Amino acid sequence: MAARIITVANLKGGVGKSNIAVNLACELGGGERRVALVDADPQGTSSHWMSRGRYPAQIHSFPLEDERGAQSWITKVLSIDSDFLLIDCPAHSRAVTEIALSLSRLAVIPLTASGPDLIATTNVLNLIETSRAMRDGNELSFLLVPSKIDHRTGAGRRIGDVLRHLGDVVGPEVRQRTAFVDAFTERKWIGEFAPKSDARHDIVNLANAVLAKMEEIEGFGPDEQTAQVS
Ligand SMILES: Nc1ncnc2c1ncn2[C@@H]1O[C@H](COP(=O)(O)OP(=O)(O)OP(=O)(O)O)[C@@H](O)[C@H]1O
Ligand SMILES: [Mg+2]
Repeated sequence: MAARIITVANLKGGVGKSNIAVNLACELGGGERRVALVDADPQGTSSHWMSRGRYPAQIHSFPLEDERGAQSWITKVLSIDSDFLLIDCPAHSRAVTEIALSLSRLAVIPLTASGPDLIATTNVLNLIETSRAMRDGNELSFLLVPSKIDHRTGAGRRIGDVLRHLGDVVGPEVRQRTAFVDAFTERKWIGEFAPKSDARHDIVNLANAVLAKMEEIEGFGPDEQTAQVS
């Protein structure tokens, strides 16, 4: 069976795409599931992150600059043998984001609690609409994930209320947490670096929300839920 493809994207830089892509891929990869992460960003953040030791997900460094080379990139991505495949997209490239979305069932869109990010997020939602219009069959769903949320700021406290009316397209928050930064420094995913931390809890919650969304999309069993961290 073809992998379930999930693109992590936002046209805005620095919103936490790679942080979410790496930790979500590794969280989903625990247990029986075979999970791959394609680093499509020429910056190579997730490839650097997952460059030391072993991880529950397998990293593939397939940078894509623009639409040139798209066909061979798509062939390489689709030849990866896994149950779930995540794509970490570069910021600022509509073309690459569009190509990744064209392969995906779910788009995970991290957004921070700031005005410019909300504008960039509107642009990526427009891309999702375009992608939906161009495909036949295979729905593309999306999950907005409040990212790097700092509850000490007014915007951080308000983002939940601002997004609440959007309903179930909003996923659980991934808060601003130093453990994520330190985990990157150690080249460990959060479940290895700080398995019982609040940061890990954020990722477990997000992984469960993603699995629930995939279940909604294609109806697979509740036994595929990740375990809660005790
Ligand atoms: N939840 C978080 N808590 C604390 N720091 C975070 C969090 N998420 C990301 N960061 C930090 O913010 C910076 C940008 O994160 P990241 O590289 O994941 O964003 P990105 O959207 O992938 O960026 P780019 O657009 O450059 O690819 C990094 O220094 C990262 O360590
Ligand atoms: Mg990145």
